[in-house]
Amino acid sequence: MAVQERWATRVGLVLAVAGNAVGLGNFLRFPAQAAQNGGGAFLIPYLVSFVLMGVPLLWVEWAIGRHGGKFGHHAAPGMFDRLGNKRWLKYIGVFGLFTNLTLAAYYCYLESWTLAYVYHSVVGTFGTTDPKPFFDHYLGVTAGSIFAFPREAFFWYSITLALNIFILSRGLARGVELVCKYGLPSLMIFGVILAIRGLTLTTDDPGVVESPLAGLNFIWQPQVEGLLSPKTWLAAAGQVFFTLSLGMGSIHCYAAYVRENDDIALNASAAGWTNEFVEVIIGSSILIPIATAYLGLDAVQSQTSGGSGFAMGFLTLPTLFNQWGWLAPVAGALWFGLLFLAGLTSSLAMGPPVMAFLEDEFNWRRVPSALTFGAGTFALGFVCVWLYPGGSFDEFDFWTGTFSLVVFALAEAFIFAYVFGMDRGWAEITRGADMNVPRVFRFVIKYVTPAFILIIFIGSLIQPEGKWINAFHSLSAGRGWPLSGGSVLGKVLHVGEQGGWFDETGAPTRRLVIDGTRVLLSLVFIGCSFLVWKAWRKKAPGADAARGAESFIRRG
Ligand code: ALA
Repeated sequence: MAVQERWATRVGLVLAVAGNAVGLGNFLRFPAQAAQNGGGAFLIPYLVSFVLMGVPLLWVEWAIGRHGGKFGHHAAPGMFDRLGNKRWLKYIGVFGLFTNLTLAAYYCYLESWTLAYVYHSVVGTFGTTDPKPFFDHYLGVTAGSIFAFPREAFFWYSITLALNIFILSRGLARGVELVCKYGLPSLMIFGVILAIRGLTLTTDDPGVVESPLAGLNFIWQPQVEGLLSPKTWLAAAGQVFFTLSLGMGSIHCYAAYVRENDDIALNASAAGWTNEFVEVIIGSSILIPIATAYLGLDAVQSQTSGGSGFAMGFLTLPTLFNQWGWLAPVAGALWFGLLFLAGLTSSLAMGPPVMAFLEDEFNWRRVPSALTFGAGTFALGFVCVWLYPGGSFDEFDFWTGTFSLVVFALAEAFIFAYVFGMDRGWAEITRGADMNVPRVFRFVIKYVTPAFILIIFIGSLIQPEGKWINAFHSLSAGRGWPLSGGSVLGKVLHVGEQGGWFDETGAPTRRLVIDGTRVLLSLVFIGCSFLVWKAWRKKAPGADAARGAESFIRRG
């Protein structure tokens, strides 16, 4: 994304940022997270996290982005370098490269499933095929194997990635903005059609066992007990990060292409609230209510309790649509079509930060940058496809789609408030603002948001097995901390796992795939750091010192 690029229209910009946020997370992850965490009990922690962490971080990321863009930096390393005169700041920006590259690899794979499923809905595969064996076959999952070469999945993955790269190579205004301008409204219309059909199902319709409104009620009726559950808070905050695309570096990049005095406060809020509307209103009204209507609420709760929303979205819904007669292929195409558009408008935001880095710091042109991003994504995505049965995809999801978002957001919240400084930060957020940013957010951004993320970070590191209160009792009774295998430390230490890298027959195990994926991701991070080091090394000698003086003069 060349330095001179700009968004064509303000509406286009807001739709692009909202499209970045509205993704598979809104339609698959949110309903499943809500259902797993007690439905309405999830809602209050989710909304509190949105207001105290989501909205402030949106403003912070937009402000960092626009500030960096003023100096010709459209990727996180350069932007962070401009936040103060410390040499290490640019290395915090490495997260903005690493996360987008690695996230794009597995996210585009997921997105490609939805495209394949549009095709299969239209040709009627789900009318005759049991979805579970079909899904396993599609992904190459066979009992006991950790490798796969699913040809059809590779085919759709390549098509999806090629489409992303083609759009990215057209630039911001003629590529990303154009797709989001039509894609986001279209997917909302698809969602509303499905929601209306789903919510108007009655027990007179064939196969319907319960009112779909019971499902909606389950998600929407706030329950205060969620407030006392740290597990629910962690899940809610994690969902806010993922759904708003916070801590990725993509919002920063989009914001870097607005002019110095253009509004960011209202744009950020508009994009954030659009995402919430799509997530809480439309996202809640499809998967869970339709599944509740046909399977009953108890079955829905038990289906979502063990896994993610993927299973319901890919296995359950196509089967249930079959009850809709002639509407079945249309409903399938609308459902997977909306997922595909949601995925596409999000994955398109993952390319520009990496491309902008190559263009800004190494003077590359847009098309070679897009192709390089595509090649990197394809190579990493190949690992996700090939080693899917061994758990590689899930590792990508955890480390890049969950953990690194929190780490980057934690760093940026502190750097913004305490290195850049809250006076400059507040001035940056409010300059050119088309809304009155409530002053209380100055306090929130300085104290509440960083503390909130710090607690989430520590919580995710040491999350215990079972209830937190029981874990503290266990600790105080001298029985130690029952670390959950799903916590960050639990994963690093392989808590609850048996065996090594090879089984007794000498065959590689899942553990090898998991550790191998972690090594790969670490190498990507190191590689991105090396590129940042190299980019700054080739800048004029003394550039760091000169910039330090410049920023001192500006502050003074
Ligand atoms: N924000 C994007 C989503 O929700 C990544 O899928």
